Amino acid sequence: MSQIDEDIRVGEIVSAFYNKYPFPGYDAHKYVTQEDLFKNANLYSRLLDNQIPWEKTVLDAGCGTGQLACLLSIKDRKTLGIDFSEESLSKGQKIKEKLKLNNLTFRRADLLDLKAGDERYDYIFCNGVLHHTNNPYLGFQNIIQFATSGTFIVIGLYNRYGRLRLRIKRRWINWKYRSNIEKTRDAIQEMLVKDEKDTEKQDTWYQDQYQHPHELSHTIDELLGWFKKHNIEYINSLPPIELFRKEENATRIFKKSPVTGWRNSQFGHLLKQLKWIISLRKTGGYFMIVGKKL
Ligand SMILES: C[S@@+](CC[C@H](N)C(=O)[O-])C[C@H]1O[C@@H](n2cnc3c(N)ncnc32)[C@H](O)[C@@H]1O
Repeated sequence: MSQIDEDIRVGEIVSAFYNKYPFPGYDAHKYVTQEDLFKNANLYSRLLDNQIPWEKTVLDAGCGTGQLACLLSIKDRKTLGIDFSEESLSKGQKIKEKLKLNNLTFRRADLLDLKAGDERYDYIFCNGVLHHTNNPYLGFQNIIQFATSGTFIVIGLYNRYGRLRLRIKRRWINWKYRSNIEKTRDAIQEMLVKDEKDTEKQDTWYQDQYQHPHELSHTIDELLGWFKKHNIEYINSLPPIELFRKEENATRIFKKSPVTGWRNSQFGHLLKQLKWIISLRKTGGYFMIVGKKL
């Protein structure tokens, strides 16, 4: 099978999965006014909303059900959400219509087969998406076609080290409980599910973390290598990739990290990732790096 055929085959499996379990879980009834988008947002989305100036343009590549895209579109920010899952997009579209989010557009497309034309954005997000494709680097290259000098690019991926515990646990749970959702509730609760009573959200999270048909994982320097190749300067990271840098010191998401030297070197990153085997267990080893196109 050629690389392209394999990319298409994996894409079909992954889009079918997200059509069945659109992510993130969306409780439409919680959204009555535009303010509810902020009220129901997680901490990361609120930070973004506070730190991205009004009227900037935003691309959310692999937007899923579009919660972030909906939120970011409200301050006169022209926002585009792209995803290949029809069901996920239709959930986002319903909220868009209900809350009259006129700056927001959703587009159905495969990130591995994407052409930017002359569209450019000030902020590009791709959170938790590329590791579910068969060719993450191709997806990355396609996404950054939408960047111009000064564009901030945020890429969130599973970390090869940080994800290790969850992978072992997943094998064990899947073997022990044979995918019985009731019996695996305890495992889900350990993850980032804020509202424990919200079973739809829990189930979506469980499927995404424990039953996903295709996931890869990446190292810090692999992603930094992609940035370097495409003239993207490292700005910041969450959790911080620098050794001994605290998370609370990295919450100015688009402000350049002051840490240089060995703490932010390949060796420092290796030590940090070894630490992530333990410390990132609750987020399943997820990390985000922010860059700026030069
Ligand atoms: C884990 S969800 C993340 C959703 C959202 N970015 C978030 O952070 O909540 C992954 C999303 O990526 C989308 N996706 C995966 N591969 C894709 C591809 N090749 N093209 C377009 N969307 C893709 C899936 O449909 C799914 O909605």
